[in-house]
Amino acid sequence: MFDKKVILTGVKPTGTPHLGNYLGAIKPAIKLGHEALAAGGKHYMFIADYHAINAEKDPNILSQKLKEIACIYLAGGLDPKKSVFYRQSDIPEIHEITTILYAYTPKGFMNKAHAYKAAVDKNREAQKPDDDGINMGLYTYPTLMATDILAFNTDIVPVGKDQVQHVEIARDIAGAINAHYNCKLLHLPTYYIDEHVAVVPGIDGRKMSKSYGNVIPLFDDDKAIKKAIFSIKTDSRPMEEPKNPDEILVYEIYKSIATEEQLKEMGDGLRQGKLGYGNIKNMLLDAVINEIKDAREKYNYYMAHFDEVEEMLQEGASKARPTAQATLKRLKDAVFGKGLNPFE
Ligand code: TRP
Repeated sequence: MFDKKVILTGVKPTGTPHLGNYLGAIKPAIKLGHEALAAGGKHYMFIADYHAINAEKDPNILSQKLKEIACIYLAGGLDPKKSVFYRQSDIPEIHEITTILYAYTPKGFMNKAHAYKAAVDKNREAQKPDDDGINMGLYTYPTLMATDILAFNTDIVPVGKDQVQHVEIARDIAGAINAHYNCKLLHLPTYYIDEHVAVVPGIDGRKMSKSYGNVIPLFDDDKAIKKAIFSIKTDSRPMEEPKNPDEILVYEIYKSIATEEQLKEMGDGLRQGKLGYGNIKNMLLDAVINEIKDAREKYNYYMAHFDEVEEMLQEGASKARPTAQATLKRLKDAVFGKGLNPFE
């Protein structure tokens, strides 16, 4: 399905990723990139730092988050020699394109966008004016995201369900521009939802999320990871009592990381009353540490040598920019009457 396709993934540098993000989003995104490259396609992977400033106004926090995100993707196996790995704010053409897209973006699209609607709902609940605390960056977010996608003639945007609407908006804007000029100036993107990716539960059984405070940390030391794993909710049933593994949270989390064989071992042990909660927590701990060990080392290396990462990002930007420049030129030429040159 990725045969010679352009795949593009963006990630906002917000929040320090935890194990759930790593297993549920970061690793699958890297894997999709590898699949696209293996199928002769192109893979863009970028850090959406302009998207992040709508919510994060502290430059120190922002630059720290950006560092972490860049290093996590590299540690997780992203190959910047093969994937085009860049930072959104290093591509100035993004903003010229966005300005042109604005002229073709119905305001109603923005009113309907999830992120904005959620912010309004929250205000209403708190009995505040609808637009309280909402900046134009948040409001127009989907148009900037449309540019991220359209600038690179993207075929496929791998997304979580919450981002589907944004890709549809990008497609609609592109369609409106193409229709207006009766010329294929922009390539229409589609989204892809990876159904195999499991939602990793947190240590209290709800979805693992920083806002719930139920995370297993990612590239922390073994002690911190152990502490989180040993506080996973269990009950007081004795080891000998046979248990249904599907009702046991440690087992549920194990599912997202264990091999079939390992999973069977834990499942059988629980069903037969041969494994207690201490045992299975240790099994999970071993699996987590085994999974992240090498990546953690790489991560720590890149965090300590960020100048090397910076160089990779600069190289990525210089690989990405010519494509964005060509898109901008097609649009500008059309808009200002210099000619219609379709994207082949
Ligand atoms: N909105 C995305 C998120 O919150 C991040 C993002 C920005 C993005 N631009 C993008 C994702 C372009 C895919 C394509 O996760």
